[in-house]
Amino acid sequence: MGQVRIYEDAAELSHAAAGKIAQRIVAGVGVGGRFSLALSGGRTPIATYQALAAGPWVGPDRWRSVAIYFADERAVPPDHPESNYNMVRTTLIDPAGIPARNVHRIGAEDPDLEEVVREYAATLPTMLDLIVLGIGEDGHTASIFPGSPLAREAVARVAAVRDSPKPPLRRVTITPRVFRDAREIMVLASGAAKAEAVARALEGTTDPDQIPARLVREREWLLDRAAARLVKDPDAPRTI
Ligand code: 6PG
Repeated sequence: MGQVRIYEDAAELSHAAAGKIAQRIVAGVGVGGRFSLALSGGRTPIATYQALAAGPWVGPDRWRSVAIYFADERAVPPDHPESNYNMVRTTLIDPAGIPARNVHRIGAEDPDLEEVVREYAATLPTMLDLIVLGIGEDGHTASIFPGSPLAREAVARVAAVRDSPKPPLRRVTITPRVFRDAREIMVLASGAAKAEAVARALEGTTDPDQIPARLVREREWLLDRAAARLVKDPDAPRTI
């Protein structure tokens, strides 16, 4: 069943999201366990990742038991300002001291995207413990954009995107199959510009082809008040 939590502003949202991710890691790692965490890029989660790295919750021992994956990647080198890996490295991986061997980036700068897709599909665990997603103003999530056949992909777990409406054109993304199999998913959205997409993802009858974030409407959504502005009934059960 989906859950929507609303926070006063982006700062509160980031702090709460960091605490929740940390909680899941602490519970998941337990004694001697491992935790698989797939992260999104974009601007929204930056403060969350920084808070997660700076917070006292996880600690170096537990970070050693966390494997980092990516929900999507843009076809740029890993040190590029638009690289999702670069953003996660500078906000979380380096400050938290997560060992390089635990980080499974998508090598989407390789011109042979099909090979990248094959490799990443072989790297991803069958069931991720937690995926952190964002939502675009157009309702995309990961790199599944409105109108893309990927919104109905039920077999492949990783796919190449060659016509992204959000630059760069070429990307690699996990698919709805990975969403379906994940233990938990957290969607973060802040700001008034996201309000319409958020409401269309959570309510009404729009097809997930048009608003791909609707694929995860039954999961946990963390919103600030501005992004939640058009959600009529935040407490409604969200079973499709
Ligand atoms: C990407 C993302 C993407 C992101 C949304 C929201 O690589 O572009 O992973 O799915 O989560 O576009 O991005 P913002 O947080 O920047 O609005």
